[in-house]
Amino acid sequence: MTEQQLATEHVSDRNLALELVRVTESAALGASRWMGLGKKNEADGAAVTAMRRAFDTVEIDGTVVIGEGEMDEAPMLYIGEKLGCGGPAMDIAVDPLEGTNLCAKGGPNALAVIAMAEHGNFLHAPDIYMDKIAVGGGLPPEIVDLDAPIEENLRALARAKDCTVPDLVVCMLDRPRHEDKIARARAIGARIMLISDGDVAAAIATSQPESGVDICLGIGGAPEGVLTAAALRCVGGQMQGRLVFENDEQVERARKMGIADPHRKFGILEMARGNVLFAATGVTGGAMLRGVRRFGHGAVTHSVVMRSKSGTVRYIEAHHTAVHNPEPTP
Ligand code: FBP
Repeated sequence: MTEQQLATEHVSDRNLALELVRVTESAALGASRWMGLGKKNEADGAAVTAMRRAFDTVEIDGTVVIGEGEMDEAPMLYIGEKLGCGGPAMDIAVDPLEGTNLCAKGGPNALAVIAMAEHGNFLHAPDIYMDKIAVGGGLPPEIVDLDAPIEENLRALARAKDCTVPDLVVCMLDRPRHEDKIARARAIGARIMLISDGDVAAAIATSQPESGVDICLGIGGAPEGVLTAAALRCVGGQMQGRLVFENDEQVERARKMGIADPHRKFGILEMARGNVLFAATGVTGGAMLRGVRRFGHGAVTHSVVMRSKSGTVRYIEAHHTAVHNPEPTP
């Protein structure tokens, strides 16, 4: 590649990152009209519609690899859908509204999320569960292991952070399936933060010292796992995941999506390889992002955009003075 080609690639890569923020902002603005109204499907629908429309002007030849479902179950942002108005071939992972319940109930940490990488770099995870473990950046490699007992992982993490296990905060989804892990972590003194939903924001929080979250683990959505891996790649975090199957049909689905050995453990680079771009806009406020604030004639959004190539993390506050929202008023 010539120097000029390299420079062009660099610029377009940077520009694309900012384009992605416009797309997550649109989705968050759409969902925000439904915040607190107790209607998660409507909130999700508004985010999907707005995100889909915003992609029309992004200069990529994009393909959805993590989306709203298969073509026959999702009218927009379905797996395999082509997005963008032409440009480099990119794979796209989207969650237009991560935390539909959070948005419907006005709870914290609902996000509009996108990750993008050159074609072939994301794990094509089906919409099933994934067992995950995630920690932030700046730690020795392979500090935690999905297959190690939770006690071992917490002790190793405490040593690496030069603290004790009772200094650690462990974040998990508040689900009966995590009872054993919660009890064992508490038994050695770790403090547990239980969240009702939204494990993408929780896992990213491990990379933000001010969040107070040291490690996020447990079973949540597999598509969310890939999005989390993309974000943590950009900040030097660590993550592992393994698909959790409830029946043979799900195993078959994973195989059909190109996963040769569906039962194995995936490292972060097997979930999100290459040069990864990640963008998220807050729908409701949380540790990382403020939620959409609406005024008489506009709204303010707060977003983060990251690139793995440069390791940059940018926060963007955007003032939208003429919010174009095609969704019917709730
Ligand atoms: P949705 O936005 O699809 O509602 O997902 C929210 C979420 O809490 C994710 O953050 C998490 O990975 C998953 O659901 C957990 O699934 P479940 O609610 O079935 O335990």
